Formats: sequence, C-alpha cells, structure tokens
Amino acid sequence: MKKRYLTFNILLLVYSQLIFAQPKNPNYDEGKIPTYTLPNVLESEGGIIVNSVDKWFNIRRPEILKLFKQNVYGEIPQQDIKISFKLQSIKNDALNGLATRKQVKIILSNHDKTLTLSVLLYTPNSCQKPVPAFLGLNFIGNQSVTNELDIPITTNWVGNYKKYHISDHKAGEQTRGCKTYRWQIEKILKNGYAIATCHYGDIDPDFDDGFQNGIHPLFYKEGQNKLQSDEWGSIGAWAWGLSRILDYLETDKDVDGSRVAVIGHSRLGKTALWAGALDQRFALVISNDSGCGGAALFRRRIGETVEMINRSFPHWFCENFKNFNNKEDKLPVDQHMLISLIAPRPVYIASAEEDRWADPKGEFLSALNADPVYRLLKTDGFAVREMPAVNYPLFSRIGYHIRSGKHDLSEYDWQQYLFFADKFMK
Ligand code: GCU
Repeated sequence: MKKRYLTFNILLLVYSQLIFAQPKNPNYDEGKIPTYTLPNVLESEGGIIVNSVDKWFNIRRPEILKLFKQNVYGEIPQQDIKISFKLQSIKNDALNGLATRKQVKIILSNHDKTLTLSVLLYTPNSCQKPVPAFLGLNFIGNQSVTNELDIPITTNWVGNYKKYHISDHKAGEQTRGCKTYRWQIEKILKNGYAIATCHYGDIDPDFDDGFQNGIHPLFYKEGQNKLQSDEWGSIGAWAWGLSRILDYLETDKDVDGSRVAVIGHSRLGKTALWAGALDQRFALVISNDSGCGGAALFRRRIGETVEMINRSFPHWFCENFKNFNNKEDKLPVDQHMLISLIAPRPVYIASAEEDRWADPKGEFLSALNADPVYRLLKTDGFAVREMPAVNYPLFSRIGYHIRSGKHDLSEYDWQQYLFFADKFMK
C-alpha cells in the first residue's frame, strides 16, 4: 500500500514538472497581438532625425549596430587571431565536368587553441573566372549537400535526426547527399555561380555547453572561462565564421570576392542576416524562413517569441537578450532595423505560407519597415505596401516572396534567389 502511494506521488511530481516545463502555447491569432510601436529607424536615440546618407552612415547605422550587439546577438571580440588557409584537395572534373571542386581548411588559432573549418567550394567550369558566389552554412556536414562519394563525413557535432539515423550527434554514411535538394548545386553552377559551404558545427556546435567548445574559447582572455553578458552567442559565432570563409573566398582567383551572396535557412537565415549586417563585404543577403531573431518582428509576439527562443536555445543570443523575455516593447531595436543595416545592398526575405512559427507576416513587415532606409540611400527599396499573394515573388532592392508549403529551403526558393542574384550581381 505504502509503495503504491509513493509511486503515485512520484508520478504526480513528474507530471507536474512536465506541465511546467512546457512552453506556453504560441499565439497565432492576429487579433491577440498587443498594440506596439516600432522604434523609428530614422531617428537616433538622442532624437536626431536622420534625413541624409551621411547621417545614416555616421550616426544611425553605427548606433543601431551597437544596439544589436549589446542587446541581441552580442559583441564580437576584437582580438586578431591567426588565420590560415590550406587547400586540401582539388578536382577539376567534379559533377561530370560541370565544376571544379575544392576542399579548403581554414585554420584559426589563438593562444594554444586551434579550430579548423572545412569549406567545400564548387566553381563552374564553363564560365569566365572570377565568378560571383553563394555562401551558406549547412546543418549536417559538407557530405550532406552533394552525392559525391569522396567528401569526408564530418566528425564534428551534428544535431540528432531520426530520419538520417543520427542519434549520438555523429553523422554517418546515411547523411551523404541527404540535403542535396536544399542546395541545388548543379542549377547554381549552370547559372554561372560558385557555391561555397561549411558545416555550422565546425564553428560552434549548436548546444548549450556554457561556450566551452567551438570558437568562443579561442577568444577567452587569461583566466576567462565564460562569456560576459554582452558577448556573442552561437549566432554571432556562425556569422563571424561566414566572414572568415569570405576572407578565404577573396583569395581564391576563381571567385569574385566582391560579389558574394550570403544565404541561410532558418537559424542559419538569422545568421545570414546578422553576417550581412556585420560585414559589408557581403554583396547580397538572403534570409530563408529565418523567423524569430531573423526577419520577423519581435513585437508582434506571434509564433515564436523572445522568451520561447531564449528558453529553447539559451546559447544563440547574448545573455542580455534574456532581459527582454516578455518585454519586447523595451527592446531598443526590432528586426526591420536589422534589415536596414544591410542597406543599400540587395536583401531577399523569403517566407513559407505554412511556416507560422516563423511569422511570415512579421517577416514581410520587417521588409516594409526597412524601406525608408533603402529609399534614403537612393534605391527603389521595397516595391509594395501590402503583402503579395502566395508565389508572387518581388524583385525590388528588398526582394521578397511567400511561397506555398512548409518551413524548408526548396527549389522554388532557389529559382527566385538566382533571378535576384542575376539582377544585382551580374
Ligand atoms: C526552431 C527554432 C527556430 C529556428 C528553427 C530552425 O524551430 O524555434 O527559431 O529557426 O528551429 O533553425 O530550424
């Protein structure tokens, strides 16, 4: 009898823990969005009205960048670390002669620590070099983006995916080519672009370990073993890594380093936007279904919210960002300002109709509210005021589509990105 009572109590305890551990149900009702006011992208904190290109670049842009660093993605440490490039292999007739394939190691070191990024680069053989390029991080390793059998399977941490038989954070043979549809490598090459990628786990494994692995410890000062509350999280690290790959691409004679588009899906879409904001060498930026912390406005509090993202992914942003859990109105920025940091460079924001967690409307509204900056900088900005119909892409300087279907990076998405890139990078 006693034993039964104990079991019942334990079950009750476990059950109540489970209930309390559940995230609050996300809101998907437009009618329940609290009234909010977006910070004015063209007025400085001190009340200066930003009405010239000069005031934008000298006053407001640096201010907004700083606000994002301090409150959202974290500051990037300012130390110079050693970086070197090593060509690991070159294959002149990859993909039946369509491309030249290079595998390059980027070796980063500081104090006594070293980190190596493995970059996979295809350049089209039929084009006059140097060519413009797309650069994006991948989720499961370079072997996942192509069916070629001689790309080593990453030995670094990967997320667990039942579908690809990954249960212990180690990728196996089953992951070879499992994401080819997301990369459309042949199509990209046939359109005259190079494509470069690297596994995001090379830069920082995507789990919360108090920043003991990945790139962060390379920057720890003597005696430091954790981050300050305003220092970079994982998104900041991935974005920084993209810039190091661009450092390499600038040295590759087959690639035109002044025409590199940075692209990312989902958490890596957030990363692509932040990379484009931080590093003005990126000529074009593409955000695919980036959602909360990416293109979607925080203040709408629909789908994923600040609190939810910080609870599920406590390592993505800086510690200070947690101060805004359920306090979106206190944020000195919102994501239209992230888009504006990319201006006047072309930026493409893509959503998927069924991706409600990422708040497609909030992604559209960021684009719309970044338009005044793009116009101040003498571009055509964003061509519409109302959300376009599903599958009607838009190719103004701020490009946009909402396609039918789910959260993913599809062939349809790539078709639009290629068209957009042709317009602005060729
Ligand atoms: C989760 C997360 C999103 C993120 C997505 C992804 O759904 O809540 O913010 O964009 O993962 O990266 O796949």
